[in-house]
Amino acid sequence: MRIASVARHAPSRVVTNEDFERWLDTTDEWISVRTGMKRRHWAADDEATSDLAIAAARRALADAKLEAGDVDCYIVATATPDYIFPATACIVAAKLGAVGKAAFDLSIACSGFIYGLTVAAGLVRSGVYQRILLVGAETLSKIVNKQDRSTAILFGDGAGAVVLEASEEDSFLGAELGADGSNPSTLFQEAGGSRHPVDHAAVDAGLQYVHMEGREVFKFAVTSMIAATDVALQRAHLSRQDIDFLIPHQANRRIIDAAVKYLELPRERVLVNIQEYGNTSAASIPIALAEAVEERRISRGDVVLFVGFGAGLSWGAVVWRWQ
Ligand code: ACO
Repeated sequence: MRIASVARHAPSRVVTNEDFERWLDTTDEWISVRTGMKRRHWAADDEATSDLAIAAARRALADAKLEAGDVDCYIVATATPDYIFPATACIVAAKLGAVGKAAFDLSIACSGFIYGLTVAAGLVRSGVYQRILLVGAETLSKIVNKQDRSTAILFGDGAGAVVLEASEEDSFLGAELGADGSNPSTLFQEAGGSRHPVDHAAVDAGLQYVHMEGREVFKFAVTSMIAATDVALQRAHLSRQDIDFLIPHQANRRIIDAAVKYLELPRERVLVNIQEYGNTSAASIPIALAEAVEERRISRGDVVLFVGFGAGLSWGAVVWRWQ
């Protein structure tokens, strides 16, 4: 399997750290120092996750010189679907003109792209499908409490899409996926599912918004990124020195720095764009990959390591040889 093309899309509205100073008790300095973020993109009121996913997918299809019908299966990794059901992927495939093709969502929050690559690898390498379009797409701005300074500043909206296809050489060298659902409330949207349907009491208590134990997630993030990286490398029969580029989930600059320091990777091999996008959850890794490919930073033969973590709690890493 190989990546035939990769593309990104972010909504046009940009929210800067200074913008938050106007309605929250926060500062550009606090946000920059604690997170590395400067700006993020937020969807318009009439823009949903599928709209962002479709824009990125259209570009990826055009770059691969494919029609929507050439793709056998559409996967959207998202924690912010258009609806709880039907799957956002069904809407994306239909609007692209691929009615009748397989389509499903993958719900594992910020680890979505990593899990998606691994699922797609299984489907393509086993011969079930020739081509899969995988999109990480999110509109976290729709489910954060804009009055809560500890979460509102962190999240951005966007989408990154890859066309994956069967090929002679295999890019997928190894992976590690994991989850620990013992304490879902560490990072969750409490109301809206079957445990707590949305009712007036839920809305009055603000349970429809993202709730996050920031410090807990921080500690878990660093250790899970390091462990997942090492296990995935081991499965690929490679070592840390073999990594040409690390593309981590962009949740917090300090999380990335701590993991990279422990892994002893040179800074220039680590791709970070958190200053531009904030945390776009399942979209952050494919957006960073798309930028790197546009800037021609990645060359044929390079070993790229994707690593992420998120709600679940969940984590994962994939070792990829670029071709
Ligand atoms: N501006 C100013 N002060 C703030 C802000 C803000 N925007 N947000 C929080 N503070 C205050 C807190 O109220 C607290 O004040 P107190 O000491 O008076 O109580 C103080 O800053 C320190 O708060 P901490 O939470 O300890 O700050 P920390 O340095 O841990 O940074 C952060 C917070 C950025 C959330 C960090 O914990 C983090 O990044 N955690 C990981 C988050 C993450 O990765 N989430 C994504 C997971 S992916 C997914 O699945 C969606």
